[in-house]
Amino acid sequence: MASTLNFLLIFFTALFITSESSVVRSPFRPNSLVLPVHKDSATGLHVANIRKRTPQVSVPFLVDLNGNFLWVVCDQNYLSSTYKAPFCHSTQCSRAGDHYCHKCHSAAQPGCHNNTCAVMTINPLTRRYTVGELAQDVVSIQSIQGSNTARIATIPNFLFACAPSSLLQGPFPKSVQGVAGLGHAPVALPLQLASHFGFPPQFALCLASSNNTSGSILFGNVPFKLATGSDISQSMAYTPLSIGPLAEYYILVKSIKINNKTVPFNTSLLSSTRGFGGTMISTTTPYTVLEHSIFTTFARFFVEQFVGVPQVESVPPFGLCFNSHILPPTRVGGYPNIDFVMQNRNVSWTILGVDSLVNARPNVSCLAFVDGGLNTRAPIVIGAYQLEDHYLHFDLSNSKVGFSSSRLSHPVNCANFNFTSALTPEEDTMKD
Ligand SMILES: *[C@@H]1O[C@H](CO)[C@@H](O)[C@H](O)[C@H]1NC(C)=O
Ligand SMILES: *[C@@H]1O[C@H](CO)[C@@H](O)[C@H](O)[C@H]1NC(C)=O
Ligand SMILES: *[C@@H]1O[C@H](CO)[C@@H](O)[C@H](O)[C@H]1NC(C)=O
Ligand SMILES: *[C@@H]1O[C@H](CO)[C@@H](O)[C@H](O)[C@H]1NC(C)=O
Ligand SMILES: *[C@@H]1O[C@H](CO)[C@@H](O)[C@H](O)[C@H]1NC(C)=O
Ligand SMILES: *[C@@H]1O[C@H](CO)[C@@H](O)[C@H](O)[C@H]1NC(C)=O
Ligand SMILES: *[C@@H]1O[C@H](CO)[C@@H](O)[C@H](O)[C@H]1NC(C)=O
Ligand SMILES: *[C@@H]1O[C@H](CO)[C@@H](O)[C@H](O)[C@H]1NC(C)=O
Repeated sequence: MASTLNFLLIFFTALFITSESSVVRSPFRPNSLVLPVHKDSATGLHVANIRKRTPQVSVPFLVDLNGNFLWVVCDQNYLSSTYKAPFCHSTQCSRAGDHYCHKCHSAAQPGCHNNTCAVMTINPLTRRYTVGELAQDVVSIQSIQGSNTARIATIPNFLFACAPSSLLQGPFPKSVQGVAGLGHAPVALPLQLASHFGFPPQFALCLASSNNTSGSILFGNVPFKLATGSDISQSMAYTPLSIGPLAEYYILVKSIKINNKTVPFNTSLLSSTRGFGGTMISTTTPYTVLEHSIFTTFARFFVEQFVGVPQVESVPPFGLCFNSHILPPTRVGGYPNIDFVMQNRNVSWTILGVDSLVNARPNVSCLAFVDGGLNTRAPIVIGAYQLEDHYLHFDLSNSKVGFSSSRLSHPVNCANFNFTSALTPEEDTMKD
């Protein structure tokens, strides 16, 4: 009798739990997410604020297109009741890639525990690296529905690395606390968010050219409609994307044209395999860097095409500067256009003439390209200045990257991807 009662009790308990769980709301599955980014005018680099921890704080991160995870300084002011450091040999550690078991001889605190995983954290500006602790904490990101903002999406156990504050030495934007990596690695933002929410492994980058407007990084099913209503999907050109050994992105630029004339340098350099080869896209390089021999030919050719504008002594880091008093007055025309030609001559990334120059000093405008010397990371590294106000769509499942090819016929103003209006964000947690 007693055992029958017990059985019934268990039966009803089970029934109760089952019916209880069947009324639980289905988890929130955002289609796309947006991170607002802003330009730091002192460094020309871009910063994203990410909401993390418990209680929640907004933490500024340097945007690093080629970083293989998110790392943050933990040895100062890291207060969070939800910080966890996965144990060595755990599934989280194996997802993060190369690591070893960590021992820490100071007092236990975020970034310092025994028997956790040590991963290599890299400063993308100085290439210095140091050991950091793999960690997990809450991260919240704005979701979007079409052109409107929707609920805040929360990842309770977002994987990142904790680095010592000494790693933040270098020309970082002020107040930055870490680096947000967008590289092709399982725990970098694009793939970690896609695998958590089940949306496609895609993201888009639209960096604003001015510090008084906001740009964005979009994840998932990225939108192609600007706030102005115009659809840029028709003006996108696509080129194959390759992934380097450090999860970084490369495209193949086959030649460079200025005013539709091919710049006569040895193009075998562009596909050479020093390092990895190909053209790198980088958000941690303020201006496009060319290998020394390419730069020399490129600068000489540019001068030939820029008739009647006197050169002045150059202002570092630039190698070619002009008296801006004598610059042609019109927005277009008079300035040589630059094309990075990809897989065929129909696919090229056009840098409008006026966008190829930067005001370096009063009365001095410089070609916004830098001579990288003989040991550049790649023969061409396309930098942040040349990425601004272009819409870049990284389609990781199809290994291709799309870009809004010409700002002349299809101007993009990244400030028009503003998702800060619309609905009041509602807090929602997706249960793991
Ligand atoms: C790690 O273990 C060592 C002993 O092996 C101990 O001295 C140290 O305090 C521990 N560190 C932490 C953060 O618990
Ligand atoms: C924005 O940039 C301008 C110069 O480009 C600078 O004078 C100004 O201080 C910057 N504002 C902020 C908030 O950084
Ligand atoms: C933002 O800066 C740009 C140039 O840097 C300027 O043309 C524009 O008027 C500024 N807008 C506001 C709202 O300050
Ligand atoms: C550039 O050259 C191509 C052929 O190589 C030609 O079809 C095109 O019209 C030219 N564009 C300009 C602006 O001269
Ligand atoms: C171009 O460079 C490659 C090696 O980088 C060399 O083998 C080749 O001879 C060069 N071609 C010319 C025309 O200089
Ligand atoms: C380039 O575009 C022209 C006209 O749009 C087209 O006829 C030609 O086939 C294209 N070439 C390639 C290699 O795609
Ligand atoms: C810029 O050039 C103008 C005209 O040549 C001159 O009057 C002015 O002083 C120059 N400004 C600076 C900062 O050199
Ligand atoms: C977003 O951009 C549109 C078009 O540029 C503008 O009308 C709107 O006011 C902007 N909204 C916000 C919140 O900045």
